[in-house]
Amino acid sequence: MLCKLQKDKSLLDLVPDHPVPRYTSYPTAPNFKQNINGKIYSSWLKKIESSEKFSLYIHIPFCNSLCYFCGCNTISIKKYDPVERYVKFLVKEICLISSKIKFKPCVSHIHFGGGTPSILKPKDLKVIMNTINNKFNILKKSEIAMEVDPRYFKLDLINVLKKHNFNRISIGVQDFSKVVQKNINRNQSFKNTKDLVESFRINGINKINIDLMYGLPYQSMLGFISTLNKVVSLKPDCISIFGYAHVPWMKKRQKLIKGKVLDNKERLQLCRIASDYLSNKNYISVGIDHYARHDSSLIKKLKKRNLTRNFQGYSEDDSRILLGFGSSSISSLLGGYIQNISNVVEYIESLKRNKMPIFRGYKFKNKDEMYGNIIGDLMCYLSVDLQEINRKFNKENKQNFLVNELQKVKPFIDKGFVTLKNDILTIKPYARPLTRIISSSFDKYFKANKTKYSLGI
Ligand SMILES: C[S@@+](CC[C@H](N)C(=O)[O-])C[C@H]1O[C@@H](n2cnc3c(N)ncnc32)[C@H](O)[C@@H]1O
Ligand code: SF4
Repeated sequence: MLCKLQKDKSLLDLVPDHPVPRYTSYPTAPNFKQNINGKIYSSWLKKIESSEKFSLYIHIPFCNSLCYFCGCNTISIKKYDPVERYVKFLVKEICLISSKIKFKPCVSHIHFGGGTPSILKPKDLKVIMNTINNKFNILKKSEIAMEVDPRYFKLDLINVLKKHNFNRISIGVQDFSKVVQKNINRNQSFKNTKDLVESFRINGINKINIDLMYGLPYQSMLGFISTLNKVVSLKPDCISIFGYAHVPWMKKRQKLIKGKVLDNKERLQLCRIASDYLSNKNYISVGIDHYARHDSSLIKKLKKRNLTRNFQGYSEDDSRILLGFGSSSISSLLGGYIQNISNVVEYIESLKRNKMPIFRGYKFKNKDEMYGNIIGDLMCYLSVDLQEINRKFNKENKQNFLVNELQKVKPFIDKGFVTLKNDILTIKPYARPLTRIISSSFDKYFKANKTKYSLGI
């Protein structure tokens, strides 16, 4: 039996020196093309059947201050005016896109992400929710979620959240260590976070997610355990622990981070600590970077193999149609993906001209759905039934199915990190940090490129 240290060494040997995608979609966004236009999007919208349930994503690209690590599409503002102006056009976009659909769609899931959607003043959140209510039927028991920055949260927003049945809140923390926080320009006390969690609970908003990160300069094992300790004391339903994606060639603000970004070995150590600590506290690992309380709804979905992975990470939502509104947001339809313009000024300009604010997109072809399903299953459950995939998607050449792809997985099988038994490919729990790398074996478009994605672990 190999000891843990030896196993980790052999695991690290399998990490390539090029970055790999996070697979929130397949194909991934760098493969989107600019030849997808409003005509194509409208045709996809028109084809949707009224029996489909919809999911909505609303992007608010503003923050009160910028965290240097941040890879999100956002800008910091000192005055509120740009948000007010943006909301006017966001509402226009919701009306424009919904007018292309032949019926009033039923919605089972709404997610406000960003940036910092909790920057919205109550009146603006009301306007957005009223527009959604006008154009869509929000189903009872829908999940309605918002990403919240506790440092600037004003309690008067809670009344609007309550009135519009928000039931899940995702709170950014990253790390409570002062030295780490100072270096990323994010001072956030535990008390501030704890008080806010309590306020949500008192007001009946009970599903709480907390975001942490590993890989930032000055993060240490002791400091991370202390952060985990504090976070667990808040009893969140789910804790996301994202590997820091250091992509300064894309996100210039990351150049402001001082100190050494952690390497794969150090990142793996923090992953292991989090995993051991949280499993001792009755949290179960979900996919590549989530831990959910054993009694949470996410775990029920996981057990039924009913999870999905989308642009917001893991979701309990099973709608096949996701409409993204706001700058940079991505929609996922049966025909393909559509991504909006990222630049807020250009986004607004497009809507002023009554044009759909599309930047690029992707039309599904050939075996995209099949490879997307394989990667989706690996990313959600760390296993995939290849016989089932063969039966469902492969009409020709049943014998030589996925030969080339499995050749790429072979080194992981040889080292004992992956098993292939009865056509079921399974990543062992210990090899979970390799999931993105193993999944990339089934990505027909992935080309190892040092500058497009984030580190392998
Ligand atoms: C939209 S923010 C969360 C809400 C709010 N803006 C806040 O920061 O409190 C989404 C999350 O993405 C994660 N994130 C941002 N930049 C990242 C990066 N470069 N690598 C990995 N995770 C990142 C952080 O954990 C962050 O909390
Ligand atoms: S982590 Fe949140 S608050 Fe910080 S810059 Fe990114 S979106 Fe804004």
